[in-house]
Amino acid sequence: MNEWCWDYYGAYDTSQTTDPTGAEKGTRHVYRGGGWNDFAKNMRSAYRAAGQADMKSFNLGVRLVRNAKNTPDGKLTAKENVKPEKEGKVLIAYFSWSGNTRDIAHNIDSRIDADIVELTPVKPYSTDYNTVLMEAQEDQHKNARPELNEHIDNMEQYDIILLGYPNWWASIPMPIATFLESYDFSGKTIIPFCSHGGGRFGQSLTAIAKLAPDSDIGEGLSVHYSGGSTLDDDISE
Ligand SMILES: Cc1cc2nc3c(=O)[nH]c(=O)nc-3n(C[C@H](O)[C@H](O)[C@H](O)COP(=O)(O)O)c2cc1C
Repeated sequence: MNEWCWDYYGAYDTSQTTDPTGAEKGTRHVYRGGGWNDFAKNMRSAYRAAGQADMKSFNLGVRLVRNAKNTPDGKLTAKENVKPEKEGKVLIAYFSWSGNTRDIAHNIDSRIDADIVELTPVKPYSTDYNTVLMEAQEDQHKNARPELNEHIDNMEQYDIILLGYPNWWASIPMPIATFLESYDFSGKTIIPFCSHGGGRFGQSLTAIAKLAPDSDIGEGLSVHYSGGSTLDDDISE
């Protein structure tokens, strides 16, 4: 069975590369591997074809995978929570409106050696719940980039960014978009944590991946409001 790939179809780099991720943009996605009715010569993972994402075929499917981590003995083990491979300096950066994400951020900070920064918009959101609902929705519709009071001068020194935010309208609050577009996160690991009212991460992980395309996004932690009795354990884990 051919398998869909995440990559867009496009010209390859002509130099030698490992794990190329395909073209940055495109209209068609790659599928690979050949299907049961293909010629024998196409039955190999290097065989590449392209299709519109809504294309359906009886010899085209997906493969379910999970993250794996290299262990010292060289064996691959599946892990629920992939810890960052790199041992680097950690920054906790978060935005919080009503304090839940702030409390989680400080809880995390008390357990690890990290710098911490709260991201605050120059023009604060209303303190009234119904008004902030409207403001946040308008921000999202306009794809706004609210200016932030904070600037991190030495972002290069951080390898891991623990990025905290409340789920707002099933995605990131737009100050997080401003933050992600203000720095180069290539090669850094972003581990998201969010506080939510039932929607968990919503679409926020996709939003982060699009705004920091060259970062590794680790598996994060979503917390219902300020968390329950298991919060400490959840954070430790
Ligand atoms: C503007 C706004 C939009 C929200 N949208 C969602 C949502 O789409 N899904 C959800 O589960 N919770 C949503 N919530 C609830 C918050 O995610 C939740 O209250 C969170 O704990 C707030 O974190 P904070 O105290 O750090 O601001 C929303 C809250 C606000 C103020």
